[in-house]
Amino acid sequence: MTDPFSAPFGSLFGDSMTVAHLADGAFDYPGAAQAFENFSMHPGTHVLHYGSACFEGLKAHRQSDGSLAIFRLDDHVERMRQSIGRLRMVVPESDLIRTMIVDAVEANASFTPDAPGSLYIRPTFIGTTPNIGAAASPSDTGILYVICSPVGDYFAGGIRPLTIYVETKVPRTTPQFGMVKSGANYVMALGPTLDAKRDHGADQVLFATGDDITETGASNFFLVDDDRLITRQLDESFLHGVTRNSVITLAAELGYEVEERPLATAELADWASTGEIFLSGTAAVVAPVGTVVVGDAPVMVGDGQPGENTLKIREALTAVLTGNAPDNNGWRTAVDG
Ligand code: COI
Repeated sequence: MTDPFSAPFGSLFGDSMTVAHLADGAFDYPGAAQAFENFSMHPGTHVLHYGSACFEGLKAHRQSDGSLAIFRLDDHVERMRQSIGRLRMVVPESDLIRTMIVDAVEANASFTPDAPGSLYIRPTFIGTTPNIGAAASPSDTGILYVICSPVGDYFAGGIRPLTIYVETKVPRTTPQFGMVKSGANYVMALGPTLDAKRDHGADQVLFATGDDITETGASNFFLVDDDRLITRQLDESFLHGVTRNSVITLAAELGYEVEERPLATAELADWASTGEIFLSGTAAVVAPVGTVVVGDAPVMVGDGQPGENTLKIREALTAVLTGNAPDNNGWRTAVDG
């Protein structure tokens, strides 16, 4: 098997998938995984024209005792149902999505790399009605499917200090779609991200429309020092990260005072001189930030290297992911494999 740490994140796949078809208001799932295969689509398929698609990202981790567990399965299932609802398509029962994820992971279990690698799970829903006039109506047929990818680090180069560019003018998406995990949101962030990479060497863009810091293109955003963990309070304008919630919970257990509140860009320069900054996400895990670029001015965070509080929180999260710490919050779902 190709080493997932040398292949780009998400470019390797297991050999099985689960698939359910939506028609006449009901999902038809055969009850088991099938061979991984291409879909054949009518060129007028709804998703290809009107973006009727959403997805989830979660992981299964090889545990220290050799078993396999999915992290925060039910939270991801419910977020997926929320996304599908906001796309105004037929929302599958939680049990169906849950079963399809477990079946897909069990069928692809042998593809799971040892920690710190993991099996990245990608449940996806697409609208398939062949109608290029249906711009103002939802697709009433669809495919719900789950594929799995053996992965290493999301940011190439391992745990290294990232550079983020703070974008105060161009929004990541629209306020009403911010908490939907749709491909459309990611493609909207692509242009600003590529521009920031070219102009500032940035790994990610931190969206702070109207000076209101929310999230980066692919992760949530945190400030931390020896005492406090700070992140933007939730609302509908950005993604409710499951890892964000895990980080908050674990940091509180470690004794940090947690503040969920508005964050302005003016805070960043001051914070960078005394505190640490990191990103969180299923793919990103906990990723340290070494430089923030505000306007044209790069500001080094601390000494530019991963800080000890960031690494402590990352370590606490990794321990729960891999069975090296007790599952106090009921986050792990054991599966066969
Ligand atoms: C995740 O963290 O799971 C995501 O969906 C981010 C994606 C860009 C890989």
